[in-house]
Amino acid sequence: MELKYRAPEGMNDVLPESSHLWQYVEARWRDHCHRYGYGEIRTPIMESAALFERSVGETSDIVSKEMYVLERGEERFALKPEGTAPVVRAYLEHGLHAGGGVQKLYYITPFFRGERPQKGRYRQAHQFGAEIIGAAHPLADAELLAMVMAFFAGLGVPDSALQLRLNTIGCPECRPAYRDGIRQFGQANFARLCSTCQSRLERNPLRILDCKVCVAITADAPPIDPYLCDGCRTHFETLQGLLKTLGVGYVRDPRLVRGLDYYTRTTFEVVAEQGLGAQNALCGGGRYDGLVEQLGGAPTPALGVGIGVERTLLVLHALNAPLPEPPRLDAFVVAFGDAARPIALQIAQQLRMAGIACDLDLEGRSPKAQMRLANRTGARYAILLGETELQTATATVKDLASHEQTAVTQAELAAWIRQRLP
Ligand code: HAM
Repeated sequence: MELKYRAPEGMNDVLPESSHLWQYVEARWRDHCHRYGYGEIRTPIMESAALFERSVGETSDIVSKEMYVLERGEERFALKPEGTAPVVRAYLEHGLHAGGGVQKLYYITPFFRGERPQKGRYRQAHQFGAEIIGAAHPLADAELLAMVMAFFAGLGVPDSALQLRLNTIGCPECRPAYRDGIRQFGQANFARLCSTCQSRLERNPLRILDCKVCVAITADAPPIDPYLCDGCRTHFETLQGLLKTLGVGYVRDPRLVRGLDYYTRTTFEVVAEQGLGAQNALCGGGRYDGLVEQLGGAPTPALGVGIGVERTLLVLHALNAPLPEPPRLDAFVVAFGDAARPIALQIAQQLRMAGIACDLDLEGRSPKAQMRLANRTGARYAILLGETELQTATATVKDLASHEQTAVTQAELAAWIRQRLP
């Protein structure tokens, strides 16, 4: 069959054979966030394009090259290319700051980036996100990092399979001098830089630090440390002390500048040693102390993380981490003869109302074909309904593993099955 329609390139269907794995990691993320005192936030699939231009940054790759922009009349929207700016927009729009204190918000969201698809990189992907708004102290950074690492550990990913990379990129007070330092370094090495980095040098020089092509050149770039202001230095030192206290291992990565413009001070990524190939970042995040103000609010420190859901699943598969089996049917109702079909449907309905997962043939198949189907679904019990059963208002329950058969009255059937389910 020649397919007339296909999913858009880089956008994937999740089929029943794997959707239970999505449900599993999603449930783990919800549970995990709840344990750390977060509430869930859901924001629209699209926002005003200007929101991302202002926050992620017009010169960032995400906004300048990858954003899906939709125009309708006078309005310009963008399919969200990330989750943080919408959360901050909602925080301001609903006055979540009004009660004072810290807001901890988590989400599970699709996001859209028109990148070249490859393993672990899609045009529609999904993120587990967590944002802490209103906390300036490095305690918040430490808690967030410990939470992220504990999430992966809870999924059965050993620490040895991951590396937490940590950096600071300073603040608007100290970063301009560092940016100038990197620009000068870039200009001194201009001819050796790739053409993308050459053009970045004017507007976004720090980005040359995370260019994979120019690694050998930027290895000699000056580190930020001597440029840091007292506030940023103390913040970073305190954070590192807290991570030691919590036993969270990390490596300092002076190149970790991140591709979104809103970051200040702490930046981090967790990379997987295997399973992801070139796209090895499982998650990324950091502080964005200026973003709330930039979007129209009062100066409010904040930080957060985005974890790639697809990449998490790829790593779990690659490491043979424990994953749940697809959900199994408890029962399959088999009708012997046409007269039994309506009763089979009625009994199936009653069992379902009683919380038992059950199914039946909907095509009028022969009893033999129905039994085959019952076995194929992996159901625990087949509920057999023939003439005798109809006359006596009973059902024959067949355990499909042991083949043992028991006669049970139709009235007691649900209770009988429920008692025997794990
Ligand atoms: P990000 O680093 O752009 O950060 O994305 C976070 C994670 O999403 C990445 O580490 C990766 O696992 C996954 N990811 C990114 N792009 C793709 C893609 N094309 N296909 C599959 N997975 C992808 C952010 O988006 C920030 N909003 C994170 C954040 C939250 N910072 C503060 N709060």
